Amino acid sequence: MSATKKGIILAGGAGTRLDPLTRIACKQLLPIYDKPMIYYPLATLMLGGLRDILIISTPKDTPAIENLLSDGASLGISIRYAVQPEPKGIAQAFLIGESFLNGSGASLILGDNIFYGKLDFYREALQQTDGATVFGYHVRDPERFGVVEFDKSGKVLSLEEKPKHPKSGYAVPGLYCYDHTVVERTKAQAPSARGELEITDLNISYLREQALHVKLLGRGIAWLDTGTPASLLEAGNYIATVERQQNYKIACLEEVAFNRGFINATQFENLIGTTRNPDYRHYLESVLAESNGG
Ligand code: G1P
Repeated sequence: MSATKKGIILAGGAGTRLDPLTRIACKQLLPIYDKPMIYYPLATLMLGGLRDILIISTPKDTPAIENLLSDGASLGISIRYAVQPEPKGIAQAFLIGESFLNGSGASLILGDNIFYGKLDFYREALQQTDGATVFGYHVRDPERFGVVEFDKSGKVLSLEEKPKHPKSGYAVPGLYCYDHTVVERTKAQAPSARGELEITDLNISYLREQALHVKLLGRGIAWLDTGTPASLLEAGNYIATVERQQNYKIACLEEVAFNRGFINATQFENLIGTTRNPDYRHYLESVLAESNGG
């Protein structure tokens, strides 16, 4: 039933900690080495096999994102757009996306979350038809994130949003899988003290019914932070190092679309023909040649 899940990218927020960079463009359009940031979460959804995608952003930034990614047809996917008029919390994405979801389950990724590594953990989570799945990632500074606490058997004991005294070192990254009850749960949710529909409260509603699965991400997965100038630079350097060392691109949407079979060789050639950057074009040509056994 994984095919019934639809993807949502939430690219909201004021990007205050990245000001004045975010005066040029919203955070999710800033560069991570050779691509706009939003390419990375979009590639994650596509690598999960999701082809029906809604991007939600601010009234100001949505047109710029749409200008960049358009309707997704050239990548063999469907991208729709919706506006979050005011930042009223991550879970609001499901209220905004209600008609898009149309009763389907959802996978939400935050537009500033970058994953690199083998995504089997995500594909497995997308197979889950009941309940919700979130992930746990060991970090140095869990107090900056949603934090998950569990016992020795892996049973979740608590979830807390940015706790002053974290009960574990495991942060919950901004990638979530939900069953079809997500919209009604969000509707029943009360705003937090800061007036937002918290994603952590939504996850707690699943936890209360023992319908929350947590998968811990091991050392083989990189989850990169992009929230400050230093972490933005580090994420860019990380991507640059891996890409230059291996000569493979990370989050190259055209390559992902072709390798996943969302587009055929002719459509891929058409995309190559419209690629202006000669290095990027050569890379795509090498992907095509490799698929031909070259
Ligand atoms: C949000 C969530 C938090 C999560 C984080 C992941 O926080 O509220 O639970 O761990 O994303 O990036 P934000 O970064 O929006 O403050």
